[in-house]
Amino acid sequence: MTLLRALWHGLAVLGLLSLAGALWFASQGVAATPTPGPLETAAARTARHWLVPASQRARTSPEAANEKTLADGLAHWADHCASCHANDGSGDTAMGRGLYPKAPDMRLPTTQQLSDGELFALIEHGVKLTGMPAWGTGTAEGERSTWHLVQFIRALPRLTPAQLDEMRDLTPRSPAEFREEEDMRRFLAGEAPPSAIVHVAPWFDWSTPMTRFAFVRSALLFAVVALLGMPVFAHEGHARKIMGTVAMLHEQHLEVKDKDGKAHVMTLNASTKIMKGKTAIKASDIKAGDRVVATVMTEKDVMIAKEVQVGVNADSKAVGDVR
Ligand code: HEC
Repeated sequence: MTLLRALWHGLAVLGLLSLAGALWFASQGVAATPTPGPLETAAARTARHWLVPASQRARTSPEAANEKTLADGLAHWADHCASCHANDGSGDTAMGRGLYPKAPDMRLPTTQQLSDGELFALIEHGVKLTGMPAWGTGTAEGERSTWHLVQFIRALPRLTPAQLDEMRDLTPRSPAEFREEEDMRRFLAGEAPPSAIVHVAPWFDWSTPMTRFAFVRSALLFAVVALLGMPVFAHEGHARKIMGTVAMLHEQHLEVKDKDGKAHVMTLNASTKIMKGKTAIKASDIKAGDRVVATVMTEKDVMIAKEVQVGVNADSKAVGDVR
């Protein structure tokens, strides 16, 4: 009799706990914007760990690791994984930050301490109730490329700037981004006259329903990201690009004339990257008449150049209406 009573009491407590749990869950709402708390993260990761069968966790790579397999993993990552995980594995992308749970920083020990077999299983089969998709194709070829990805994940904590550069070229772009890059490349190479000032995010062309839709979508995404990243955005300002020819360089001040003849004076500082193609050059190597695409930020009314890409010199190449 007392046993039956104890059983009922136990069930009642369990029922109340489940009810409290359900109410807590409902009170959190459905939004993916919050970051899961440390308790929830620890519980989810521990459960995930034990739900990957021990035999899979113990697997080791049958693929000999070499430069070719690493290059394959790198290319595959830039193409399929970087949209959420970022090329550097930080997870710092609009998608990665917008998920619940967020894409983790995979350079950190929390990921690096997982066994090769566990990483492999997570990539092949995905992670239920998270944004992490299953990538396995059930073929030997697919498994091989997953092992290459595992090898690349191990290399994440010490990627070189050259590797990151290479990945930037491999990461998929929207047609608008591609056109903008192509415009800049042709301008710097002297193949086309300078076009107008280019905004990094060309959302403001209202001419087609598609761009209107893209604008609304981007605005929503931006709102979400801005809320999450307020402190970062607050001091970063807006980067924009200025395309034109160098009118003058005086000490740290670079004057660039755009195609409408408008002058833009920007400050070069110690952290300004000055590049000719893929090589870094010195400010003193910039000559009047050089074609440049400058990425600038305005801080307290001062325009600061973050990066200046230098192309051909307008005087050395006769092109249409270059001033
Ligand atoms: C749509 C977004 C998205 C894409 C694309 C994506 N992932 Fe993930 N990935 C996630 C999220 C979110 C998590 C966190 C899952 C969790 O917390 O259990 C994750 C977790 C992982 C983990 C476990 C790391 C850890 O410490 O928890 C690995 C390994 C991984 N991803 C590899 C990959 C690889 C390799 C690719 C490309 C083939 C890829 N992911 C593509 C969203 C994504």
